[in-house]
Amino acid sequence: MVTFYKERDRVGLETREKTSVCKPDIIVFDQPEQIDQYAADRVINQIQKKPNSVLTLPTGSTPEGMYKKLVDAYRQRKVSFKDATVINLDEYWPLDPNHPASYSTYMKKNFIDLVDIPLEKWHIPNSRAPDRNQEAARFERLFEEAGGVDLAVLGIGPGTTCHIGFNERGSAVNSRVRYVSLDPQTAMENSKKFPNPEDIPAGTITQGVANILEAEKIILLAKGVIKAKGVHLALEGPIGSDAPASFLRYHPNTTFVLDADAASKLKSS
Ligand code: F6R
Repeated sequence: MVTFYKERDRVGLETREKTSVCKPDIIVFDQPEQIDQYAADRVINQIQKKPNSVLTLPTGSTPEGMYKKLVDAYRQRKVSFKDATVINLDEYWPLDPNHPASYSTYMKKNFIDLVDIPLEKWHIPNSRAPDRNQEAARFERLFEEAGGVDLAVLGIGPGTTCHIGFNERGSAVNSRVRYVSLDPQTAMENSKKFPNPEDIPAGTITQGVANILEAEKIILLAKGVIKAKGVHLALEGPIGSDAPASFLRYHPNTTFVLDADAASKLKSS
């Protein structure tokens, strides 16, 4: 059992022999909508058990349905986020936070402005901070201040990027919050969300692999055949920086939540 993630022992993260490989749970649903419900239920259960939970949350196409279900549950008074803290995974840099394709805009539109989380408890890298390294250092301090993440919800990058957050290929297991340049496959896919695709910034400020692995529980959501290769590499390829999502196999409480297309390249499915 890996204990050093919980102890936040950064030296431990660098010491491979102290790690042990775990087998993530894998759930494959027939319909992508079932992923939305499962993910929303995990978040709701977490908040119901511990109202002041700290959540790491993703943006992107995959979790849109999860956010809709969370907002519905809030409107039906099944859950309140008033005591929760949200630390987003990442944000483009540099970019106007009010740009329609910024992750700040995404989060406000899909979640933050629609539920009762106090604004001061929502954290996302400042995409117009003048100095990206200083901004990364500020964001890093939030983890200590928040006292650790209870549940992290992740997506996975397209094609062979296998990124989590924006930890693109080459990211180390002990990487922490920092600026990362986008992989060309990521830039190609994500530029579709920009009114002018050429406006996509060259990089993001992202939680590092180590920040993600320190969460107590992790769920990774993947829908569609564009994620099949990454899911296969993450679960069945060698563990290493060539496929950053493979580092999730060092985490003792991770669940991959997939649709049939995303699971289609798994040998075991
Ligand atoms: C976004 C993030 C990324 C996405 C991934 C999948 O905050 O951290 O890792 O989760 O790029 O994006 P979609 O869901 O758009 O396919």
